[in-house]
Amino acid sequence: MNSVLVLAVLSLFLLPVVCRSHGPKVFSVLRYGAVADNKTDNTKAFMRAWVAACRWRGKSRVLIPPGSYYLASLILRGPCNGPKQFVIKGVLTAPTKPALFFIDHWITFQHINKLKIYGGGTLDGQGASAWPYNNCRTGSCKPLPVSLRLDFVNDSKISNIKSINSKNFHFNVFSCYRLNFSRVTISAPEDSPNTDGIHVGGSGDVAIDTADIATGDDCISIGPGNKGIRISNVVCGPGHGISVGSLGKSDREEGVSGVSVVNCTFRGTLNGVQIKTWPDPEAAGGFASDFMYDNIVMEDVDNPIFINQQYCPYNLCSAQGSSKIQISNITFSNIWGTSTTKDAVKLECSESNPCHDIALENINLKGPGGVSSSSCSNVHGRSRAPVNPPSCIR
Ligand SMILES: *[C@@H]1O[C@H](CO)[C@@H](O)[C@H](O)[C@H]1NC(C)=O
Ligand SMILES: *[C@@H]1O[C@H](CO)[C@@H](O)[C@H](O)[C@H]1NC(C)=O
Ligand SMILES: *[C@@H]1O[C@H](CO)[C@@H](O)[C@H](O)[C@H]1NC(C)=O
Ligand SMILES: *[C@@H]1O[C@H](CO)[C@@H](O)[C@H](O)[C@H]1NC(C)=O
Ligand SMILES: *[C@@H]1O[C@H](CO)[C@@H](O)[C@H](O)[C@H]1NC(C)=O
Repeated sequence: MNSVLVLAVLSLFLLPVVCRSHGPKVFSVLRYGAVADNKTDNTKAFMRAWVAACRWRGKSRVLIPPGSYYLASLILRGPCNGPKQFVIKGVLTAPTKPALFFIDHWITFQHINKLKIYGGGTLDGQGASAWPYNNCRTGSCKPLPVSLRLDFVNDSKISNIKSINSKNFHFNVFSCYRLNFSRVTISAPEDSPNTDGIHVGGSGDVAIDTADIATGDDCISIGPGNKGIRISNVVCGPGHGISVGSLGKSDREEGVSGVSVVNCTFRGTLNGVQIKTWPDPEAAGGFASDFMYDNIVMEDVDNPIFINQQYCPYNLCSAQGSSKIQISNITFSNIWGTSTTKDAVKLECSESNPCHDIALENINLKGPGGVSSSSCSNVHGRSRAPVNPPSCIR
């Protein structure tokens, strides 16, 4: 009887201790001097909270409570001791003074494994202050910050975060493996320059699921050197669509393989699903293969299905000719809806390296007045009815 009582009393004291030691240690930015007045520069406070959380042995968490926090650019580096969380409940506001933003990032996470970024908060890139400086077309080009960069981050997850009005891309993923995005909301005006939603480069096993993206450039862009990119349940628009590329701008580029885009909707976008390569015949080595586009709705899209091996914006091509990027094993299936142009399906492949194993299955895209057509150059593959517009693949 007594020993049972002793045990019961002991466990009353021990239980909370045991529980606490299992939960992550919390490092609130407020304890490191952050002020949520949307004015005070919180860069050092965030940095100190991160360094402390990163050093902590075991699971720990940087917490940004509700409120608005002004923040200049910063790099949050690993490696860390154990899994880390970065919980954004508040709104982070980026600088608007040009002297503070001619740099390639706003917030960068680097060399970290097992990172989770979540919390329902917002990254406000204050893009309107920087878009007038986006004049790369004319050749004079200073860097503008990507709102959130992930470099060399593995086994990690970004969920339930909102990004608005980035100055450049919203998210940039470089050399990350086994990374998941889910429930991310992205928004910027339709005419904001270069505001790609999520750009992925040199990475593998990246999943983007359940995202609502409205922006001025590609909703999602997939650059060279990617393998295994799974995109699902994304609503894109306005924007330029979900693009692989542009590829073949430089020599000895790595290829892209294993991309899937499923259960997505495009609304009023410039392109739907697109693969674009520069026509430079000198750039060799790259390829695009093993893609699956399935179960996609197009609503008033200018170019719903587009393989473009003559991609040359603003006539900036270093050389005119035929792309060396080999495109193969690409399936477009269960794609329906409306196109604002007659040419709903455009498969314009390279003369020197024609596309092969391109498949169209169960397509129904109506153009203006219900009339649509498809155009093909240098394409080999097959189609399986019903396909409207009628397939031009042979
Ligand atoms: C923070 O201030 C900026 C102006 O610098 C403003 O655009 C933004 O809406 C403010 N954010 C919040 C959450 O009040
Ligand atoms: C991340 O994963 C990649 C691929 O599995 C691996 O090559 C790299 O070393 C990993 N990085 C770290 C820091 O563990
Ligand atoms: C990412 O999602 C996949 C399922 O799609 C899951 O198996 C994996 O554990 C997730 N990884 C992380 C780091 O959350
Ligand atoms: C896509 O939708 C189908 C039908 O609703 C569902 O069976 C499938 O699991 C979904 N795939 C993904 C990756 O969400
Ligand atoms: C074609 O790509 C699909 C993925 O979309 C892959 O499962 C399949 O194995 C590839 N086929 C060949 C012959 O490589």
